[in-house]
Amino acid sequence: MFGFRQARRPPTLDDTRVAMAERILVCVAWPYANGSLHVGHIAGAYLPADIFARFHRLRGNQVLMVSGSDEHGTPVTVRAEQEGVSPKEIADRYHREFLETWDRLGISFDLFTRTGTDNHREVVWDLFRTLLDRGHLFPATMLAPYSPSLNRFLADRYVRGTCPYCGYTDARGDQCESCGRLLDPADLINMRSSLDGKPVEMRETEHFFLNLPAFQEQLYAWVREQEHWRPQVRNFTLGFLQQGLQPRAITRDIDWGVPLPLPGYEHKRIYVWFEACTGYLSATVEWARHRGDPEGWRPWWQDPATRSYYFIGKDNIPFHTIIWPAMLLGYGGLNLPYDVPANEYMNLEGQKISTSRGWAIWVPELLARFDPDAVRYMIAANLPETRDTDFTMEEFFRRNNDELVATYGNLAHRTLTFIQRYYAGRVPEAPGWSAPDPALAARVGSTFETVAAGISAARFKEPLREIMALAQHANRYFDEQAPWRQVKEDRAACAATLLNLLYVIDGLKVLFYPYLPHSSGRLHALLGHDDEVTAQGWQPRVPTPGRPLPAPKPLFVKLDPAAV
Ligand code: MF3
Ligand code: ZN
Repeated sequence: MFGFRQARRPPTLDDTRVAMAERILVCVAWPYANGSLHVGHIAGAYLPADIFARFHRLRGNQVLMVSGSDEHGTPVTVRAEQEGVSPKEIADRYHREFLETWDRLGISFDLFTRTGTDNHREVVWDLFRTLLDRGHLFPATMLAPYSPSLNRFLADRYVRGTCPYCGYTDARGDQCESCGRLLDPADLINMRSSLDGKPVEMRETEHFFLNLPAFQEQLYAWVREQEHWRPQVRNFTLGFLQQGLQPRAITRDIDWGVPLPLPGYEHKRIYVWFEACTGYLSATVEWARHRGDPEGWRPWWQDPATRSYYFIGKDNIPFHTIIWPAMLLGYGGLNLPYDVPANEYMNLEGQKISTSRGWAIWVPELLARFDPDAVRYMIAANLPETRDTDFTMEEFFRRNNDELVATYGNLAHRTLTFIQRYYAGRVPEAPGWSAPDPALAARVGSTFETVAAGISAARFKEPLREIMALAQHANRYFDEQAPWRQVKEDRAACAATLLNLLYVIDGLKVLFYPYLPHSSGRLHALLGHDDEVTAQGWQPRVPTPGRPLPAPKPLFVKLDPAAV
């Protein structure tokens, strides 16, 4: 009976939307809560993830975008020791700052949580216990650096000594900062502790290991099939797998982190990478519980039709294409990543960004001075998708002034001020005008198609160029039609020109929305709409003749390069 009634009602546009809606999980790297974010972090993960999520929401897809503060690990404890405060205090401070940054920059997380929650610990424990029960974790002894003077084991980076390769006398136990080689602390000559300068020795200790070799074949076959991955991500992962996987210790002799779910290991913690990756799952569980639907996490992880995307920097690739997938396979019944669009690095004025050397542009400082969309535009235009790119202040000013102000902003502003002046602030009425100019409409339509294809494939830089090219094209159309002349000679033709321009501008507002959500919202209001851009979906609106428009305001502000 119900089915019969359903069948009688003709399908509406909404039905087809719902039927075609995809479920898309957007996982974004968890930043260490040990310092402010710089432009490299935003370019590497947060902005591309946000563009992707906003685009899919506009298309009517179901999107869940999650991440959180990575509170554990030596980056946080090192910072705490430098300042003489507790790691918790550091994590609290930067977690708060991250939330403020997302808010001001418009990074639209559905949930940005942290690894210090009870929920996260429970989910990590479930994963740990299940992997242990299924034989994917095993205890074994290993040698680790130990400080007799401090009576404790030390993380690799707290060990200093002479590099066996280059002779640098202050090399760190994980890496030599002079020659750049990756090291094992036992490689160092004259091991000593960076905490008190006293000698360090290697001692036996028991840890749990993830049995990665057991997943080698399965992972290799899976990665081989991922032909839609960026070549550098897929090739790096295949190369890593070809070298052969080793069991990997997933616990440490430290006291800051998630404890083990077993008695007798009170002085050990779960290794930060093992638990931080689990955050994608625990954040989904937390999000579902917040909505009063504790089982609501399941479709995001268990429905094979759901696609999960992991936005990360290139230094995080093996954790997301090998270790986390191995954990998921071992647990069973959870989706593997659909895509891992890892980025290369963004440099600053020609040099590698370095937090320790203080060579960075801090995002809170940028946001204190500039329009968030100007910052987003500059970074989006320079995303390090296939190779390293460069952020320079000179280019930031130039792009703001030439592209946002003089091209896109100018198009909107001169059209709206013209209408204000000659049409009393109402969308013009043009007898005989029923649809936008076919050539212009075709150009708008093809831009929507190419941009959608690019963003869907997790490519963001080229589509942005296409959108700006449409704005340029519309400026040329404005000049060719010369409405300032038409208004005197042929008022109907002038009204048609303006309606065509309003149509393109409305399209630009939608196309730019994933990249520049703030200015799209302002333009949406200037075009006389009182709902949200997101209500409109991924399509332009045909202007409504007679609709009153508010007083126009410039969309962007010109920056004076001499002022900074
Ligand atoms: N905190 C790590 C970093 O900043 C990234 C962790 S990503 C996660 O490099 F998946 F492990 F959470
Ligand atoms: Zn060295």
